[in-house]
Amino acid sequence: MDKAPPHVLIFPFPAQGHINSMLRLANMLCLAGIQVTFLNTDHTHHRLLRSNPDLLAARPGIRFRTISDDLQPDHPRSTALVMDLYDSLRSVTKPLLRAMLAGSGRRAESDDAVTCIVADGILSFAIDVANEVGIPIVAFRTASACSFWAFFCGPALEAGGEFPFEDDADMDHPIKSIPGMEAFLRHRDLPSFFRVKQLNDRLLQAVLSETQNASKASGFILNTFEDLEGPILSHIRAHFPTTYAIGPLHAHLKYRLTESVDSLPNSSLWTEDRTCMTWLDSQPNKSVLYVSFGSFTVITRDELLEFWHGLVNSHTRFLWVIRPDLVDGRGDEGQIPSELREAADERGCFVGWAPQEDVLAHSAIGGFLTHSGWNSTLESVCAGVPMICWPFFVDQQINSRYVGEVWKVGLDMKDRCDRRTVEMMIKELMEGKREELVRSTARIANLAKRSVSQGGSSYMNFEKLAEDIRSMSQRFIRLM
Ligand code: UDX
Repeated sequence: MDKAPPHVLIFPFPAQGHINSMLRLANMLCLAGIQVTFLNTDHTHHRLLRSNPDLLAARPGIRFRTISDDLQPDHPRSTALVMDLYDSLRSVTKPLLRAMLAGSGRRAESDDAVTCIVADGILSFAIDVANEVGIPIVAFRTASACSFWAFFCGPALEAGGEFPFEDDADMDHPIKSIPGMEAFLRHRDLPSFFRVKQLNDRLLQAVLSETQNASKASGFILNTFEDLEGPILSHIRAHFPTTYAIGPLHAHLKYRLTESVDSLPNSSLWTEDRTCMTWLDSQPNKSVLYVSFGSFTVITRDELLEFWHGLVNSHTRFLWVIRPDLVDGRGDEGQIPSELREAADERGCFVGWAPQEDVLAHSAIGGFLTHSGWNSTLESVCAGVPMICWPFFVDQQINSRYVGEVWKVGLDMKDRCDRRTVEMMIKELMEGKREELVRSTARIANLAKRSVSQGGSSYMNFEKLAEDIRSMSQRFIRLM
């Protein structure tokens, strides 16, 4: 009997930014003729289905399976409690994954045998399981290459006495222990976990160990491209020789989809409110500032009001995503006071969750006030939309430094959110520095487009990834 075709199991960390980029990869592998099973936790799968009822029908080539995260259904799985999720995945989901994969080799002739795994780069327990059962595995870190390299250099930062730093440390003090970033990186630009005062901080230690563990996989995937992060990719490849830079994935997938296929339904965990698209249709060209802080950011009520007053005082039109869980606090704490909502009625539009790629592609959008999440950063650059960056945590601090200082496709508003600064930054983005930022963003957008097009670096890196998956799968099947 012919051996089964390559069958890849794709396993993301159960969070929006991770699912989006890994589901885009799943679709690309499916287009390349590779069988894919996408593994979500029960909780995220149910949220995906609730927000996208046609999820399963829209992707016939991809099978969806679920696995327990062993948390109560009503556990918020919020930023503040993310370690509950991380700990439960490692303690309970890991043995469940092993049981799911055990015997895959014995079923090598059947079509449900997994012959290769692509696991989230912060779920390195999947690498341990894969190595135990003998299935080849590739790690996929969904954040930027610059943030990954900063985390990888964590031990060097500590050895160099550059971390941890005191409460009264000069946050603009230059960092010298991260090769390739000596000219522009400061204390405040390090990933947020480096601001902890205790070396044994659990979240920091978790990310540092996940980063080191990625080297136990057979290969390493990043959602970036050579023309954007080439210098950092060279440093990473010295430790991870098989690194596939295949992004921007949203643009790469679109390029590989045949014209006959409509744009894929979104993979949002919240239900998109498309009424904002109609509102945008009635706004002047490039007049609207899109405001969104991603899926994890939580702000205080005071910060909400500072952003609000800054927006209103700037007299700029704005479309603001206010997720139900954006504002820290209970009840109507998260709501905009009605008097403020009226103050900007005709200039402001609010939604709980937007069709972000469609919004960024709309001609009325002139700028993006973002938290600098990696997917949002890539999507904004590819749409040619300059950014104001107000990073919240993890990789976002270093992403925003690259946006403002290295790629020059936006303004870095890190660590500030008083209404006066918000107003001034908006005026700089939408008026003062508009031309130079749009020009610079267009240049990088073109480089991104070239990288995902046939013959481009990301296009070719993906072809190699698909070929390596096929050959690793064939080797696995032959050995069984
Ligand atoms: C976080 C980290 O910020 C990110 O760098 C890491 O790669 C994954 O974890 P998140 O905070 O969710 O991700 O931000 P981001 O990476 O920007 O992903 C958010 C995704 O949700 C984007 O693809 C964006 O298009 C989408 N989105 C956001 C919507 O579809 N609608 C919205 O209203 C807001």
